[in-house]
Amino acid sequence: MSVLRRCLYPGSFDPVTVGHMDLIERAAGLWDEVIVAVLRNPAKKGCFTLEERLELLQACCAHLPNVRVSHFEGLTVAFAKELGAQAMLRGLRAAGDFESERALAQLNQMIAPEIETVILLGRPEHAAISSSAVRELGSFGGDISALVPACIEQRIKQHFKPTAV
Ligand code: PNS
Repeated sequence: MSVLRRCLYPGSFDPVTVGHMDLIERAAGLWDEVIVAVLRNPAKKGCFTLEERLELLQACCAHLPNVRVSHFEGLTVAFAKELGAQAMLRGLRAAGDFESERALAQLNQMIAPEIETVILLGRPEHAAISSSAVRELGSFGGDISALVPACIEQRIKQHFKPTAV
């Protein structure tokens, strides 16, 4: 009996960027199934609601048949176990990401040694791209076309459009 190789890609995705999508597409080629999951954090009010983040991710992942989008609360490793995932994916853009990712991966390893954290290096052209850059640039009406997938660019722009009073 073959076991489905499943990977959980957790994150805030507030909102999803081209860097996240590059990782998701590469992961889709490495695992049988990839679950991209947004952390619901009641203590932290994001820029996009959980529902908006999920919708944006779903629109971006529609072309990937072995990728599904989900959400969770609490410990990521607990959700990984619930899903039957053997691995957890994180991305590393540059050296600055290393320390926090090392701590996260080693903490998770202590809590659940059976879940392997796999870290993929982002592409050099995505090194400066982050959700916070999208939020900052977007809120000032800057050009976000190189930062977010084309299919959601208009929705993101709409989000930042000032509402008429
Ligand atoms: O996209 P982010 O914000 O870098 O994602 C961070 C995330 C959600 C993966 C991380 O904060 C997390 O796993 N939070 C859930 C709580 C948890 O499991 N913490 C690690 C062990 S204490």
